[in-house]
Amino acid sequence: MQVEVKVKNPYKVFINEGLNLNFKGKVAILTNPKIAGLHLKNLLEKIECEELFIISVKDGEEYKNLSTIEEILNQMCNSKLDRKSLLISFGGGVISDMGGFAASIYQRGIKFINIPTTLLACVDAAVGGKTGVNNHFGKNLIGTFYQPKAVYCESAFLRTLGQRELSAGLAEFIKMAIIFDANLLDFIEKIDAKNFLKAQCEDEIFIKIIAKSVELKAKIVSKDEKESGVRMLLNYGHTFAHIIENETHYKSYLHGEAVAIGMNMANHLSYELGLLSEEECERIKNLLQKFALPTYYKIENIHEFYQAFFLDKKSANHKIRFILPAPLGKGIIKEDVPKSILLKSLEHFI
Ligand SMILES: NC(=O)c1ccc[n+]([C@@H]2O[C@H](COP(=O)([O-])OP(=O)(O)OC[C@H]3O[C@@H](n4cnc5c(N)ncnc54)[C@H](O)[C@@H]3O)[C@@H](O)[C@H]2O)c1
Ligand SMILES: [Zn+2]
Repeated sequence: MQVEVKVKNPYKVFINEGLNLNFKGKVAILTNPKIAGLHLKNLLEKIECEELFIISVKDGEEYKNLSTIEEILNQMCNSKLDRKSLLISFGGGVISDMGGFAASIYQRGIKFINIPTTLLACVDAAVGGKTGVNNHFGKNLIGTFYQPKAVYCESAFLRTLGQRELSAGLAEFIKMAIIFDANLLDFIEKIDAKNFLKAQCEDEIFIKIIAKSVELKAKIVSKDEKESGVRMLLNYGHTFAHIIENETHYKSYLHGEAVAIGMNMANHLSYELGLLSEEECERIKNLLQKFALPTYYKIENIHEFYQAFFLDKKSANHKIRFILPAPLGKGIIKEDVPKSILLKSLEHFI
């Protein structure tokens, strides 16, 4: 199956179409030791090119930072990649965010493609052209909009994922269902969690999850490539998640796990504002818990947590913007949330 992302320079996302790359020029593959150990041999059999280099970086969100980018750029220079070369990001969202960023600034921009190996990267990170890294101040504060030339999702890579990584990927899919399509919630509720969490579900389940989310994301990104409007909806749960990830130094939670907590926090706010019923809040909490996702984070200092909202990229002119379900299946952008209501909703988490 193929989905086109209709941005200024359109490209395709190939889902289980088979991988065969023939490239006239140098190719560098960015990956990490874990993914390389599991799948690199398989990938190399499918690539033909002039010269091939492997760039392997440390595994983990805590290494998604500028010093790893410098390491990557040094290796690109060392390999004498030129403006006709190609960078392939082969890994999860951490790798695709950093590969896209490095490709966008190396010699003012070279071609790159994404071959995602986590469910999260297939359903979200590999598509849409947001690239970047974290720093001490916050998550993804440094980065570019830079679209890949193509994305190849292969469900076979997902069979080696652990339970936490699978849950984290599903969290971003649940996010899309809550803000765009409540029918998908019925589908997710029917998935056999035990098999899914052991990566033993039928291939059709993976394919449907990837295809649906790529279709939805492609539609949104095609309308709003640089996130000045409707694309903001994809940040549902993230305003809270990014603070949690930063407070825990990117070490305690996978991104998707933090998003699960963030969605529960956003739902509490939605409830306090009268936009979501108590039953709807509970339904989502139960769904997240069914797939072993966390829904609670203890806020140590509510005032610091509150101040951190102002560093969110959606905030502007001292106004915090929240993406809230109103009701399930429809996301809205809410700007004028009274501080008292926001603090009241956070009190569930102290
Ligand atoms: N650019 C975007 O639009 C966008 C969207 C969503 C998320 N993100 C970013 O994506 C990142 C999270 O991505 P992630 O959840 O994929 O995390 P990740 O890249 O850290 O991968 C999670 C873990 O799975 C391992 N792994 C990868 N592929 C594997 C495989 N096939 N088998 C076994 N293990 C494998 C990784 O080595 C890592 O340890 C965050 O930094 C987030 O900000 C970006
Ligand atoms: Zn996300």
